[in-house]
Amino acid sequence: MNYYFAPMEGITGYVFRNTFQEYFGGIHTWFSPFLSPKHDGGLRSGEIRDILPENNSNVRLVPQILTNDAAAFRLTAERLKEYGYSEVNLNLGCPSGTVVAKKKGAGFLAETALLERFLDEIFSQCPIRISIKTRIGKETPEEFPALLELFNQYPVSELIVHPRVQTDFYKNKPNWEMFAYGADNTSMPVCYNGDLFTTQDIQQFTTQFPSVQTVMLGRGLLANPGLAAQAEGEKPVDSKTLIAFHNTLLERYQEILSGQRNVLFKMKELWVFLVCLFADGEPYAKKIRKARTLSAYQKAVDSLFAERELLDESVYTGE
Ligand SMILES: Cc1cc2nc3c(=O)[nH]c(=O)nc-3n(C[C@H](O)[C@H](O)[C@H](O)COP(=O)(O)O)c2cc1C
Repeated sequence: MNYYFAPMEGITGYVFRNTFQEYFGGIHTWFSPFLSPKHDGGLRSGEIRDILPENNSNVRLVPQILTNDAAAFRLTAERLKEYGYSEVNLNLGCPSGTVVAKKKGAGFLAETALLERFLDEIFSQCPIRISIKTRIGKETPEEFPALLELFNQYPVSELIVHPRVQTDFYKNKPNWEMFAYGADNTSMPVCYNGDLFTTQDIQQFTTQFPSVQTVMLGRGLLANPGLAAQAEGEKPVDSKTLIAFHNTLLERYQEILSGQRNVLFKMKELWVFLVCLFADGEPYAKKIRKARTLSAYQKAVDSLFAERELLDESVYTGE
C-alpha cells in the first residue's frame, strides 16, 4: 500500500513535513495545503516558501491549488514546473463556507458547466500532470456518477476521493459504496481518503478494496504519526522518538514564527489529535490548551510524557 499524507492547512506545512519525515517513515507522497493564486498567478510569500524545492528536498511533494480560475491555475502550474514539479493537485473538496460561496473547492462541484469549461482549459494548457482531490458531491452522493463521468473525459493522473459531500463537512461516515462505484467506473488510478484512524481501519479498507493501491491519511497520522509504518508491520511509536519529534518541531517553529502566541497556536493545534495517543491524556490536554506561555506549555507537555503511557493505537474518532 502507498500512503499519502493529506494536505492540512495550518498544520502540514514544510516545517512539519520535514520534521515528520526525519522521525517517522511510511509516507510515499505529501500534498501541500492549498495554494490560492490570484488571477495573475500571484502567490503569497508564505505559500511560495511552503513549496520552494529547497524547503522540500526530503519529501516527495505534490503542490495543491484551490481555484476556479483557469488562467490562475495555468500560471501557477507553469511556476511549479519551473520549480521542478511534475504534478499539481486540484482541490475540489474544501467544504469551508467562504470557499464554497466563491464556487471553489467542494462548491465548484455544483457548478458543472463552469467546472467542465475550467477542466477543458486546464487540461489543454497545463504543462504538468494534474491529479484531482474531490468530494462526491455538494449536497448528495447521487451527484457523484455524473461528476465521475466528467472527470473520466480528461487525463487525470490520479483521482483522490474523500467520499463525503460538502454539507457533511467532517460529520457522518465516508460513503464506501459511492467510493466503490468510483473505483469500478474509471480507469484512472484511484486513491481513498477519509476516517482511516487505526491499523484496523486500514486493514478493513484493504479487505474490502483489495485492488486499491493508495490511501491518503490525514487526522489519523496527526493522532498517531506511526500509523502508516505500523500498518506495514513496523513497531508502534515509542515515547523517545515522539518527544524528540515534538521538541524539534517546537524549536523550529520558534525559529520561524514571531512571538510565543503563534508558536503556541501551532503546537496546540497538533495536540488536539496527538493527545489521543496517550492513555487518559485529556486532563493534560486541558493544561496544554490553557498554557499562555511557552514555559507553561512545556511543563504541561513534559508531565504528559512523564506520567502517561503511550498507546499502540490512537483513540481518535474524528469527533
Ligand atoms: C485542519 C484541516 C485542514 C485541511 N486542509 C486541507 C487542504 O488544504 N487541502 C485539502 O485538500 N484538504 C484539506 N483538509 C482535508 C484533508 O486533506 C482530508 O481530506 C480530511 O481530513 C479527511 O481525511 P482524514 O479523515 O484522513 O483526516 C484539511 C483537513 C483539516 C482537518
